[in-house]
Amino acid sequence: MSQETGTTMLNLLQRPRRNRKHPAIRAFVRETTLAPEHLIYPLFVHAGEDDVPIASMPGCARLSQRGLLAEVEAARAVGVDIIALFPAVAEGLKTPDGREAWNPNGLVPNTIKALKDRWPDLVIVTDVALDPYNSDGHDGIVAPDGRILNDETVEALCNQALCQARAGADIVAPSDMMDGRVQALREALDGEGFIDVSILAYTAKYASGFYGPFRDALDSAPKSGDKKTYQMDPANAREAMREAELDEVEGADILMVKPAGPYLDILAALRRATSLPLAAYQVSGEYAMLKAACERGWLDEKRVVLESLLGIRRAGADVIFTYFARQAAEWLVASSRR
Ligand code: PBG
Repeated sequence: MSQETGTTMLNLLQRPRRNRKHPAIRAFVRETTLAPEHLIYPLFVHAGEDDVPIASMPGCARLSQRGLLAEVEAARAVGVDIIALFPAVAEGLKTPDGREAWNPNGLVPNTIKALKDRWPDLVIVTDVALDPYNSDGHDGIVAPDGRILNDETVEALCNQALCQARAGADIVAPSDMMDGRVQALREALDGEGFIDVSILAYTAKYASGFYGPFRDALDSAPKSGDKKTYQMDPANAREAMREAELDEVEGADILMVKPAGPYLDILAALRRATSLPLAAYQVSGEYAMLKAACERGWLDEKRVVLESLLGIRRAGADVIFTYFARQAAEWLVASSRR
């Protein structure tokens, strides 16, 4: 007789549900954790006085300096101590060589200084790539025939990263996908004594449709062509292993997979292949998808956001770039106070 229903009992030796029967048991069999220290908060900044909402990313804005300081304060209050800066640069400052990227009085260096004045212990990640500064909207310098010039771009990226390091960046994050840029950045940084500035390499950055809202946010979409000659083909997994080996020998401190959700297999494979810490970027399009469904009441925002982040952690990410960082940390802190 079954104790449940009084009818026949299956003769099972294995009943996995026994390990799910009580919250305290579920708590110790839980394999993956998600906490505010696993989150990096990407923030958009511009030189304007107002915060300008980004239509395709509800809840995100191009922040003024004042808006940025308020947002960082709120994020730190819930334990998010790492931010990544993305500048929306005035069209008039964009040139074919992207030289505004290493203007010592540019938006990014000035913003870093303002943040560090207020919070010397805030960890600041900067993006190394020319697209916000390049009049062609590409991460690299575009030749007259349309090719993206690798080695010339790498030299420009070194100028950019040095400018960021001099202003106080803690981690530089090349998102450009040029060959050899990690080693060149390491040598350039070390050459000026910035031995403690970390390199977080966008190792497996795919040519993804999920970057659309980000390019709206920064007005940084390519003016012609696409990014397929430098970003990776979404069909490829082995190639990510090759990129990882190169970034590792070139001196990267942390490897990243981007986007995150559609590329969890890449993250899991990299987790097995390297001993370096791994990051994943839940990109603008992943954010927009979740937001759009939640705004319509089709999904429960708190549940699906935390589940999407836990899934990325479970696949192997030590740290996650997410536009939900502040909100997710608020939820996590509130539920840990229970
Ligand atoms: C560009 C860069 C992009 C993102 C981060 N850095 C866009 C691109 O490669 O076109 C995308 C981030 C996102 O979609 O959230 N260097």
